[in-house]
Amino acid sequence: MTDYISARDAAESWGISQRRVSALCSQGRIPESKIIGNSWMIPANSKKPDDARSRYFSESNDRLKPFIKWAGGKGQLVDQISSMYPSELGKSIKKYAEPFIGGGAILFNILARFSLKEVYISDINRELIRTYVAIRDDPDTLIENLNQYQDEFIKLDEDEKKQYFYVKRSRFNELIDDRSDEFVDECAALFIFLNKTCFNGLYRVNSSGHFNVPFGRYKNPLICDVNNILTVSKKLQNVSIINGNFRESFDFIDSETFVYFDPPYRPLSETANFNSYSGEFNDDSQRDLAAYCREINDKGAKFALSNSDPKNTDLNDNFFDDLYAGFNIMRLKANRMINSNGENRGVISEILVTNYVSKSKQIQKTLDE
Ligand SMILES: C[S@@+](CC[C@H](N)C(=O)[O-])C[C@H]1O[C@@H](n2cnc3c(N)ncnc32)[C@H](O)[C@@H]1O
Repeated sequence: MTDYISARDAAESWGISQRRVSALCSQGRIPESKIIGNSWMIPANSKKPDDARSRYFSESNDRLKPFIKWAGGKGQLVDQISSMYPSELGKSIKKYAEPFIGGGAILFNILARFSLKEVYISDINRELIRTYVAIRDDPDTLIENLNQYQDEFIKLDEDEKKQYFYVKRSRFNELIDDRSDEFVDECAALFIFLNKTCFNGLYRVNSSGHFNVPFGRYKNPLICDVNNILTVSKKLQNVSIINGNFRESFDFIDSETFVYFDPPYRPLSETANFNSYSGEFNDDSQRDLAAYCREINDKGAKFALSNSDPKNTDLNDNFFDDLYAGFNIMRLKANRMINSNGENRGVISEILVTNYVSKSKQIQKTLDE
């Protein structure tokens, strides 16, 4: 007769999470495992299944990059911002916090460049954070779900793709209402699927908290980027991933920490739509954030902070110059939309505030141009 052990015991002996063991059982990857009551039971002589990392993963040619498109993403500013890291002062970065993580363009640049001891990321958007957690803890299940959506979606004609998108959007909204942890893997896969197929990769919710971005009509979106998901998963292994307000990072931050803040930008005009995230971030929130920067400055942490530059539209608007008086305020050039009608795209400046002085020549060059 076969002896069985609990999923918990298997998790402990294989050095993986209990949730991962349950996922492997539901995928049929542990022969003869069975459910008794609510729990999986595993034959005591089972071997730990191969990790998808070794099944599909080729480490060569992998570049760490965001797994979603995100409004305000820092992709095009990575070079300018990275030349301003405090490491440019000659020290490596050991502890890093990014409390408004969004798509994480700067996080992934930092993770690729430095061997960090501790990393903390957070965001107020619960579904976004659940997706980071799913990538870190169970990339196999995520990849399986995404591959399934991709196979189903790609073979449809345009109208059927649109219908498929709206079915998945309704399901995602059902899961937003379901506060349990039962469907986290499905929710994460839907989050990525919708990001890749909705209009402009936007994330916007209505007053009931439901995702309401329409279908995006892309020809062949890459819904499941297996290599990138696995590369990101590997890099996130020791990262603390928190769903919450930026202030929750306070205990983590100390004199060894470099903190990058990329809050929702202060709108440049009444029609600007940069703040289409869940939750409002108004001028009082900007003031609270500036106060927080002073608190962590007092702890001896180094910080850099991005925001819009009000001087693009009103030379007399000193909102950020006043809020961050005493710190260094630089102006970087970015190719962005000034307002929501899409016509006003062009090179505008953004501010980068730091509480340290960088010797970066690149920034100096940008400023001189
Ligand atoms: C400009 S985006 C960050 C973009 C990101 N750096 C990137 O490269 O994609 C701002 C993020 O702040 C989050 N957010 C808004 N209010 C917040 C708050 N009070 N605390 C923490 N995060 C918040 C939003 O959900 C959004 O993801």
